[in-house]
Amino acid sequence: MDHFSYKNGELYCESVPAERIAREVGTPTYVYSKATLLHHYHQVADAFAPVKATICYSIKSCGNLHICRLLAEAGCGFDVTSGGELFRALRAGGKPDQIIYAGVGKTDQEIADALETGIAAFNIESEAEIENIDRIAGQMGKRAVGAIRINPDVDPKTHVKTTTGKKETKFGVDIDRAERVFEQFRNLKNLRIAGLHLHIGSPVYEIQPYVDAVTKATKLIDELTRRGHRIEWLDLGGGFAVNYKHPDQALPVTEHAKALLPLLKGKPYRIALEPGRYIVGNAGILLSRVLYRKTGGNKRFVIIDAAMNDLIRPTLYDSYHFIWPAKPSAGNVPASRDSDLVATDGETVDVVGPICESGDYLAKDRPLPKTERGDLLAVFTAGAYGFAMSSNYNNRPRAAEVLVDGENYRLIRRRETYEDLVAAENV
Ligand SMILES: Cc1ncc(COP(=O)(O)O)c(C=O)c1O
Repeated sequence: MDHFSYKNGELYCESVPAERIAREVGTPTYVYSKATLLHHYHQVADAFAPVKATICYSIKSCGNLHICRLLAEAGCGFDVTSGGELFRALRAGGKPDQIIYAGVGKTDQEIADALETGIAAFNIESEAEIENIDRIAGQMGKRAVGAIRINPDVDPKTHVKTTTGKKETKFGVDIDRAERVFEQFRNLKNLRIAGLHLHIGSPVYEIQPYVDAVTKATKLIDELTRRGHRIEWLDLGGGFAVNYKHPDQALPVTEHAKALLPLLKGKPYRIALEPGRYIVGNAGILLSRVLYRKTGGNKRFVIIDAAMNDLIRPTLYDSYHFIWPAKPSAGNVPASRDSDLVATDGETVDVVGPICESGDYLAKDRPLPKTERGDLLAVFTAGAYGFAMSSNYNNRPRAAEVLVDGENYRLIRRRETYEDLVAAENV
């Protein structure tokens, strides 16, 4: 469910026409829907309410302060993976005791800053990191709290670059080794290891990988408990998928909860979740205008003013984003956003950006209604890992971001300027 829909032949975000935003703010621009964002947050929180789960929004998916502030105000915590993300979460009003810190390569400074802030817990990924956190906490006269991220060796059946819960990836401690690690570090002076963390990959479309991972984790906790370890929480990570290609491509989180709650109910430890994409993925679109059209061999290209620096997912992960004109010709107003949709007066095109790379595309061999210079296109489901992964490649100032709330919208990040491009080099 989201609040991007065609009314009277044109695309609206909530009650604001996309064309109006593009005219007033320019393009490329990311547009977020507040109602969609909060709907998805509450959907996750409600689905896992029977186990009183703590929801920590994965800030890496979309870190705009205004987005994060809305979530913090709704009671959401944060999952961070760098000092910068911790800074951002705090600046957005995140409560330190609702912040968890993951990542395989935390620096000494980042660990010290997190300890100083008083975060809830570190999600720890190796023996070396355990030793380092214990050492730094000792130097600071603090007692750190952590969970061991286990690698359950479960295939999440997603893109190889976002598969994290298989043995051959760099993440976590192999589940076979986990018991030994708990034993080895059971009496640290400055670090209390009291939780278990999982994150198998993203996006995960199937339930079974979660069920397999959680089954392995709960079994491990039972064994650890039998050996006298006190496990206080299990963090299931994130990864719930969203609809990129078809309206029914991804399961609602309620379905995941239905399968997982029986495995979690009544356990003597707390549950945490770290969703990013599920909360913000369908809450954002990218607006871009057609600059030119051209042909090359048998190909037709639609060249737009957004590029791989604005949205790298298609070229990095072979991701599909539904793209459609904001004001399609009569007969081409989409009833639903579906990759099988074929326009009545359509053509098959590559939608490409201005960057000097053949990898600079947002869609390949895509059936689209015929477009002309100046037409506005919407790239859907771009809220997660869209702006967050954008860059200044080719010295392109990064896009503006806008937040829509009912009939109003406001700029939540101004478009970067050329001066912004060189600002950090003024040394
Ligand atoms: C440790 C961890 N938790 C949570 C997430 C969020 O995943 P998603 O946005 O798919 O929910 C990620 C994403 O990479 C992650 O690495």
